[in-house]
Amino acid sequence: MSDQPRRPRKPAKPYRRPQKDPVRILAFDALRAVDERDAYANLVLPPLLRKARESGDFDARDAALATELVYGTLRRQGTYDAIIAACVDRPLREVDPPVLDVLSLGAHQLLGTRIPTHAAVSASVELARVVLGDGRAKFVNAVLRKVAQDDLDGWLERVAPPYDEDPEDHLAVVHSHPRWVVSALWDSLGGGRAGIEDLLRADNERPEVTLVARPGRATTGELLGEEAAVPGRWSPYAVRLTEGGEPGAVAAVAEGRAGVQDEGSQLVALALANAPVEGRDRMWLDGCAGPGGKAALLGALAAERGAVLLASEKQPHRAGLVAKALSGNPGPYQVVAADGTRPAWRPGSFDRVLVDVPCTGLGALRRRPEARWRRRPEDLDGFAPLQRGLLRTALESVRVGGVVGYATCSPHLAETRAVVADLLKQFPDTGLVDARPLLPGVPDLGEGPDVQLWPHLHGTDAMYLALIRRTG
Ligand SMILES: C[S@@+](CC[C@H](N)C(=O)[O-])C[C@H]1O[C@@H](n2cnc3c(N)ncnc32)[C@H](O)[C@@H]1O
Repeated sequence: MSDQPRRPRKPAKPYRRPQKDPVRILAFDALRAVDERDAYANLVLPPLLRKARESGDFDARDAALATELVYGTLRRQGTYDAIIAACVDRPLREVDPPVLDVLSLGAHQLLGTRIPTHAAVSASVELARVVLGDGRAKFVNAVLRKVAQDDLDGWLERVAPPYDEDPEDHLAVVHSHPRWVVSALWDSLGGGRAGIEDLLRADNERPEVTLVARPGRATTGELLGEEAAVPGRWSPYAVRLTEGGEPGAVAAVAEGRAGVQDEGSQLVALALANAPVEGRDRMWLDGCAGPGGKAALLGALAAERGAVLLASEKQPHRAGLVAKALSGNPGPYQVVAADGTRPAWRPGSFDRVLVDVPCTGLGALRRRPEARWRRRPEDLDGFAPLQRGLLRTALESVRVGGVVGYATCSPHLAETRAVVADLLKQFPDTGLVDARPLLPGVPDLGEGPDVQLWPHLHGTDAMYLALIRRTG
């Protein structure tokens, strides 16, 4: 036995319970739901926030912070993944998804918010202790301390390839979009670096809430009485709530006389409603109506002209939403649950037809922060036959002299011009109508005759519209 005096043992740190921060825990739960269950953040968050507020320890500021943490983390996931990958010594796919969610939340607080570094790291470590356990919290602590060594610009210089070497990869990392999406958006937008960068930046902004005053049922004057409400930029029926707020609390929205609707969608419905048709103008069709935003505007416009709207939607539960959106419409309408590629109506019955077809939604990335990561290029092949089938039926459903509007909330050329070009070939007795004059006052609509709206140029979703007349 050694007779050396024993070194006094360091007193063990007393165990401290992790601090439960309801905002971070809620944000983590929402990210897990998006990750594990393929949930949509905009559907997962509201019930979580409601429950937290009902429990009493959550106020409006907490709700705003939790929302920002979830949306910001999801939008910037591509950038944060690249940065976190540089701070761990194994491939990211080997990091447990819940650990990665805590790291991404922490990276967002460090690099994408004004939360002080010390608070961001300690809040993330406490979160990790609660949801992952003390062992993995140490790993989180070590990684986030590395992330905290630089700011976002510094990290981007390190992890993004130089623009001159690989422009698309550079933009993908810097603006947090998958490379194939950058490529597709750029193909459609055209032009140089400045335009695509403005677009990608706009995709990372939270869109304003825009309302539509359904004609004959509400006025913009009524909606402009709301807090921080200003007129829309382009649609005479639009009002923007510049500070967000709760649209459901607006009386006209609660009563269905107004709705929440991006101005791009309003412009599409208005352009179709105002396109010149020869002769009769009494029968209108919305062939892909669910959940009913455009149908409700078309229904109100049809009522003003003494026309009837048939709103058709394949999914019965979505047809129910269309019926709800149209209820109280001042003129006649009918809602049917039907497959738009096998119509129950006679060919040539309609004077105006809208097909706002299912698509990848690459034009609405501002609204669905996770969508860009979930979509795959193969999805385009899945939508292609349906988009063509729906446009084919629409062209068969319209009478000679009538007009079809083909709309997507995607600017991907495979979903826009390629579909229209194919169908124009199959229907030689059709021609494109110049849609640009039907969006009066809206600049930067391109060379026509179709129109493509853009978040960075118009403040709208990237809606596409082609107007096609049956001539034969
Ligand atoms: C982009 S959404 C339409 C949005 C709608 N116009 C609005 O403004 O609220 C496309 C809709 O088409 C529906 N759909 C899909 N396949 C269909 C089909 N074969 N026939 C009719 N509708 C279909 C989807 O269920 C979805 O509700």
